Amino acid sequence: MWFYLIAFYLLTHNVQAQFGDHKQYSSYVTVREGAHMFYWLFYTTANVSSYVERPVVVWLQGGPGGSSTGIGNFDILGPLDLSLQERNYTWVKNFNVVFVDNPVGTGFSYVDDPQYLTTTNDEIALDFVELMRGFYRNHPEFEGVPLYIYGQSYGGKMAVDMGIRMREAEEAGTIRSNLRGIAMGNAWISPVDATLTWGPILLAAGLVDQRGYENIQRSAREAERLFNEGHFFNSTAQWGLTQSQVFAATENVDFYNILTKMPSRFNFGNIHEFSRDMMIRDMEYNPQRDMSLETIMNTLVKPALGIPEHVVWQASSRIVFDTLRPDFMKPVTEGIEKLLNETDIIVTKYNGNLDLICSTPGQILWMDRLNWPGAEGYKASPRNPIWENDRLEGYYKSYGNLRFFWINDAGHSVPRDNPYGSRAFLRDMTTYG
Ligand SMILES: *[C@@H]1O[C@H](CO)[C@@H](O)[C@H](O)[C@H]1NC(C)=O
Ligand SMILES: *[C@@H]1O[C@H](CO)[C@@H](O)[C@H](O)[C@H]1NC(C)=O
Ligand SMILES: *[C@@H]1O[C@H](CO)[C@@H](O)[C@H](O)[C@H]1NC(C)=O
Ligand SMILES: *[C@@H]1O[C@H](CO)[C@@H](O)[C@H](O)[C@H]1NC(C)=O
Repeated sequence: MWFYLIAFYLLTHNVQAQFGDHKQYSSYVTVREGAHMFYWLFYTTANVSSYVERPVVVWLQGGPGGSSTGIGNFDILGPLDLSLQERNYTWVKNFNVVFVDNPVGTGFSYVDDPQYLTTTNDEIALDFVELMRGFYRNHPEFEGVPLYIYGQSYGGKMAVDMGIRMREAEEAGTIRSNLRGIAMGNAWISPVDATLTWGPILLAAGLVDQRGYENIQRSAREAERLFNEGHFFNSTAQWGLTQSQVFAATENVDFYNILTKMPSRFNFGNIHEFSRDMMIRDMEYNPQRDMSLETIMNTLVKPALGIPEHVVWQASSRIVFDTLRPDFMKPVTEGIEKLLNETDIIVTKYNGNLDLICSTPGQILWMDRLNWPGAEGYKASPRNPIWENDRLEGYYKSYGNLRFFWINDAGHSVPRDNPYGSRAFLRDMTTYG
């Protein structure tokens, strides 16, 4: 009897699952029938008497379909890097960090049947609220602890609706979280705006000539037209074609950093697949020295965390992306207005200035169009420099609950590209960093 009780406890509580030496916890939460979402929590290593003295930071990868537990954790800000060495600037030093494989079907999260995949940003947000309910069931000590949601790329788009749905649940008393802020890193907030800035950025940087510029812009405007006429799926396809125009005109500029080139192992053959693969990549490892992230996740992490055998980790889930294609080009700027108009949630936008895909100029276009009571105040606010150790790491501007951080020396993934610059927006939002 005892044996069965203990075995049942271990199976359901996953207590011994551990990868590496850091204090951690990982678990599935069934967020809907047939939909199983996975999260991986690392407790802060800050010198505090109890880890609940530090906030909870949720990290979300983009794509949609990119895995936070893999890419966000090992490639960007977790306690171990892709060589499985300690990362000196890991966010775990200051925060309890939760990597969520989201939407379901991503990373170690899975569905029992493709019909359970999400098709809209709002469905993704509702699943996230359910995930967090499961999180607080497992860790009631975090109820009331300040919570921040950080989403990169498509993760930033998801974070907006998550903020809305989390706050609704808090007000309805159906979750005991303490959401204080959302942050959107190089985020896919207004896709048409972003796509229309590619040509001008490349022309100004000398990466295309006038003809290349015109080809890119023609294609981008066609994506805009299709979007405006409500052909959302075709607009996504046209966006993919625009990416291929960029590659043709620049000889494969890196969409994540205009100062670098794409590695040759990318196959530009099928535009449909190619454009999807551009939204999420793991490529920062050195093949001579490191294992690929797929090998780390499937041969080391998977058995260590007791992931079911049938779940195969991929950096990017194609079926998740494809299921969201009709939603892909839709903006979430109204959701941002709603957060600013109706809640006290801090809304932070930070952007690496060298990114192309979610470019800084593309963010400024929608930021300047936001309708909220602080709109004029934001426009009139001064832009201030960010100095860290005598280095100019960027600039920031804020008014009310809205903030914008321009980060220098960073492309698509700011926490990895410029950890010092990242401290400015972390400190501003959380007081730690
Ligand atoms: C941790 O904090 C305690 C109490 O403030 C202090 O005495 C101790 O020196 C700190 N340890 C480290 C390693 O900083
Ligand atoms: C991390 O360590 C490396 C190697 O010692 C160093 O070059 C880098 O500046 C450090 N980064 C931070 C953010 O401390
Ligand atoms: C959308 O794309 C499909 C498939 O390529 C095509 O058959 C259809 O005509 C397109 N619709 C519009 C409005 O462009
Ligand atoms: C937010 O408030 C402004 C008025 O300041 C209004 O024009 C705008 O429509 C509101 N947006 C939303 C989504 O409620």
